Amino acid sequence: MLKKVLHIIFILSCIGIGLYPILYFLIDQKFGLLTTKSADLLASEVWNVFFYLHIVLGGLALLIGWIQFLKKFREKNLSTHRIIGKIYVASCFISGISGLYIAYYATGGLITKVGFSSLAILWLYTTYMSFTAVKKGDIQRHLNLMIYSYALTFGAVTLRIWLPLLTMAFGEFLAAYKVVSWLAWVPNVIVAYFIVKNQSNINYQS
Ligand code: HEM
Repeated sequence: MLKKVLHIIFILSCIGIGLYPILYFLIDQKFGLLTTKSADLLASEVWNVFFYLHIVLGGLALLIGWIQFLKKFREKNLSTHRIIGKIYVASCFISGISGLYIAYYATGGLITKVGFSSLAILWLYTTYMSFTAVKKGDIQRHLNLMIYSYALTFGAVTLRIWLPLLTMAFGEFLAAYKVVSWLAWVPNVIVAYFIVKNQSNINYQS
């Protein structure tokens, strides 16, 4: 029962945060992170293209990725699994490259730049390696690497859980943002490691 409830919360959080980037299109003024950016950066066409590519395709990856772990769905709909998989990989790839670019301009300085860049590189690496594994027919390695890839994608959810808590703890946004650029994803990688290690116990396979 608890596993089912946690699984439902997991899926709802993926859908909720996956749809969150829509707010940037609905709200007709400087919104969210944009309020922390300089006028020069906001006027940059390149930054804007990469920013919007990043948030839209990152949102799409989060929105569809969890479906891939449903074992029954996968077994009954292998061709759909393949189509969603290709969309997921392409979304991660484009969102990851653009994430790497916008990380260079991240609010908070060197700590956040390195934090988000490391996340982007690991995201691209695990997703790409998982894709090549399945192309070679190594299904177990494909699944293991996709667990890491999606744990990193899920960083978009954990970031938005940690950030308000850290902002309250530190009493200011900037210190919280520096910490969250690492805390949003390092624990997720550790959790992914234990999920991969204990594959037989995982709840998302049913
Ligand atoms: C996993 C790899 C990811 C990396 C490396 C990454 C990196 C970044 C970076 C560097 C920024 C700008 C930070 C700044 O300028 O201070 C950002 C912002 C943002 N990212 Fe990502 N991101 C990732 C995943 C995602 C995913 C999966 C989503 C899906 C919702 C997402 C949605 C957003 C949004 C909406 C913003 C704007 C900030 C906000 O409103 O909270 N990102 N990301």
